[in-house]
Amino acid sequence: MLTARIAVLVSGGGTNLQALIDAQARGELKSGQIALVIADKAGIGAIGRAEAAGIDCALIVRKEPNFEEKVLSALLEHNIDMVVLAGFLGILSGGFVEKFPGPMINIHPALIPSFCGKGFYGLRVHQAALDYGVKVTGATVHYVNDIPDGGQIILQKAVDVLPGDTPEILQRRVMEQAEWVLLPQAAELVAAGIVNEKENAL
Ligand code: GAR
Repeated sequence: MLTARIAVLVSGGGTNLQALIDAQARGELKSGQIALVIADKAGIGAIGRAEAAGIDCALIVRKEPNFEEKVLSALLEHNIDMVVLAGFLGILSGGFVEKFPGPMINIHPALIPSFCGKGFYGLRVHQAALDYGVKVTGATVHYVNDIPDGGQIILQKAVDVLPGDTPEILQRRVMEQAEWVLLPQAAELVAAGIVNEKENAL
């Protein structure tokens, strides 16, 4: 069966990467196979998760020169069809997005267009939601374009904010109830579209 080759870009603990790995093992992510993980920092938890799952993992340090060129080369070398940003905390340039021919998707831990864009990442997003006093937040998976968190929305799920929440507690609830569910679903949707195109091209 044809599948889409997926690269996952990570910057942290890798729980969203793990959700993708687990969904693939359960057969829920079936149109795509995770062929490459790119970590942008040494020593992050995501690297161990990739290794434990037997997935090729490249370390390309974001702070070093020519980061985007190196990432693009790795994607092309591994014949990658689609990219998933799973807790990737850098901002990719419009030029990079244009050069990679396939779809790129990102998970953001809020209901876009709230609490998103430059400077909104990780716990800062949840701190901002708590500071604002919203009673509902959530997660969004969207296509990546040249505007940070600005591409078309694929899936979105709401999560309640509860009295006494700290950024850490809220982050965990958003991950459990929304991110780890949505990201594999969105990856499967996009991968199925690629497989469809490949089959039509035969
Ligand atoms: C996740 O909450 C993800 O949505 C967020 O960083 C965390 C990474 O956790 N991403 C962003 O804020 C991107 N703007 P993980 O490494 O355990 O998947």
